Amino acid sequence: MIELRELASDDAIALRNIYGPESTRFLGRGAMDAAEARSCTRDAVAAAGQLPRTLYTLGLTRKGDLLGVVKLRLDRPAATVSYILRADVWGRGYATEGVRRILALGFDHLGLPVVHAKHHPDNPTSGRVLTKAGFTPTGRVSGFETYLARPRQPLRPDGTPSPHQSDRP
Ligand SMILES: CC(C)(COP(=O)(O)OP(=O)(O)OC[C@H]1O[C@@H](n2cnc3c(N)ncnc32)[C@H](O)[C@@H]1OP(=O)(O)O)[C@@H](O)C(=O)NCCC(=O)NCCS
Repeated sequence: MIELRELASDDAIALRNIYGPESTRFLGRGAMDAAEARSCTRDAVAAAGQLPRTLYTLGLTRKGDLLGVVKLRLDRPAATVSYILRADVWGRGYATEGVRRILALGFDHLGLPVVHAKHHPDNPTSGRVLTKAGFTPTGRVSGFETYLARPRQPLRPDGTPSPHQSDRP
């Protein structure tokens, strides 16, 4: 069972372990050093206190261990989700569950109509995470595979999904 929680200032060492060389390979960046980990943690704590809040950088934990980070950004034309997990805990379903949880925050708590995500084409594992968590592929933009997710549709009395507000003429 995983949890999502706000980051705290003493998470910098765990964050550095998450953003190691294997995990950052497809992110177009190098591994995190200690200074960046400290400033990233500070930024996440500061963002949590801003109103209106435009960035949710949440720690993914299991039994108190910080294993990854899931982000929801609202400071762009469309809301976006991203995620990263420490390499030694890949393949256990944690990222999929983390993305499901942050989508629930976006849709059920924040009322977002749509959330976008993308991954590098050489990183199909990330695409599996997205489709298992409820995203649909939408194509390729600027060399990245793109996806979107909408809130779960309410059902009509006959059990078929009602159309989304945005799908109505
Ligand atoms: C992408 C990432 C978050 C996946 O995390 P994860 O917790 O291992 O993912 P899950 O366990 O939820 O698995 C999702 C799917 O990926 C597969 N998978 C996980 N690790 C894998 C690996 N090393 N090789 C191949 N497939 C793998 C799983 O088997 C599962 O697919 P399946 O249901 O068809 O079996 C993780 O690999 C990571 O942090 N990578 C580096 C950062 C990154 O790529 N972030 C996304 C940027 S867009």
